[in-house]
Amino acid sequence: MEICSLKLLNFRNYESLEIKFSPTTNIIYGQNGMGKTNIIEAIYMLALTKTFRLGSDDVVIKKGKNIAKIEGLIKDNILNTYKLIISDTGKRIKIDSNKISKLSDYITRINVVLFNPDDLKIIKDTPMTRRKLLNIEISNLSKEYVLYLNNYNKILKQRNAYLKALSKKNLGSNPFLNILTEELITCGLKIMLIRDEFINNINKYISDIYFKITKKGTLSVNYKSEFKGKTKENLLKMYQKNISREIIMGKTLFGPHHDDIEFIVDNEIVKIYSSVGEQKNSVIAFKLAEIKNIKESLNRNPILILDDLFSELDQEKINNIIKLIDENLQTFITTTEIASVNPDLLAQSRIFHVVNGTVKEE
Ligand SMILES: Nc1ncnc2c1ncn2[C@@H]1O[C@H](COP(=O)(O)OP(=O)(O)OP(=O)(O)O)[C@@H](O)[C@H]1O
Ligand SMILES: [Mg+2]
Repeated sequence: MEICSLKLLNFRNYESLEIKFSPTTNIIYGQNGMGKTNIIEAIYMLALTKTFRLGSDDVVIKKGKNIAKIEGLIKDNILNTYKLIISDTGKRIKIDSNKISKLSDYITRINVVLFNPDDLKIIKDTPMTRRKLLNIEISNLSKEYVLYLNNYNKILKQRNAYLKALSKKNLGSNPFLNILTEELITCGLKIMLIRDEFINNINKYISDIYFKITKKGTLSVNYKSEFKGKTKENLLKMYQKNISREIIMGKTLFGPHHDDIEFIVDNEIVKIYSSVGEQKNSVIAFKLAEIKNIKESLNRNPILILDDLFSELDQEKINNIIKLIDENLQTFITTTEIASVNPDLLAQSRIFHVVNGTVKEE
């Protein structure tokens, strides 16, 4: 799939913008703070309805304005116009002129794989960051997952509140808690299975990609979940055994809300043993493996966005990565250093120069 054109109104430092993209490589260059990331953020937001940067979604509204609009013409066999309107009272989505009210119906429509320099922190950061990564990536792939995840979070919140109430009243286990536990297990098992399948799929591709980037070593991802390999009966027993502890602590002690993933290079845990460079290569290999997985599971190419990737790696790795990118893939690359971009890549790209919220095609 590809985004043919993008229109912005009061988005970040753009008052109004209209650009047409190449179906292959698009290079967006300019000095720091000019608005390069803002453009790719708009594309990402049109796909996932959320920003990947810190802050609430309404921070994207241009300072001093009340409403921001992102509009994109998306080609995926057919052409559709996607619109996202962001105001301080919320977000509205339209495909052509149809209003979309269910988010789960929307966020699998435009597939985007984003690499952002903040992703490099994934490996060293807390498990929560890695779960967030899993949730975002799988939500872009599976409607089912979005529904299960929303449901799980609702049950978890309810169950935690109930456990807290029980701890205050000094009551033991009761039928309502048992219902919540059973619902949590049923929904949690579905989430575990989808996450497990996703990581298995990533593992089909990631080691080969890693080797092609680094020319050495093997990489795999290990999915860690308290629910993995367990049946509903096993889990019911586990909760029963720990119920008094859960009531004392006033929270749910087991479940996919504790899941984590671990990157393994040459049988060693990347988080503990690897250099910064190896961590970067592992994250990039993960993102490139996602492209293959989307293609395999949805039978279409995602849009690839590489924000400031080139400043993070040496020239040899960059060249290896470029060789790995399928030429049928629509790719967006932002950089401050156009002079350092591989001349062959430049020759086949559409180039945009960004200066203070204005864009000129070259
Ligand atoms: N809501 C907003 N309203 C107006 N301007 C904003 C808003 N949010 C961010 N900006 C401005 O947008 C600019 C940052 O744009 P962006 O992050 O796209 O820069 P960049 O070209 O990617 O820079 P770098 O090379 O440093 O990554 C900053 O000048 C910032 O002040
Ligand atoms: Mg930037």
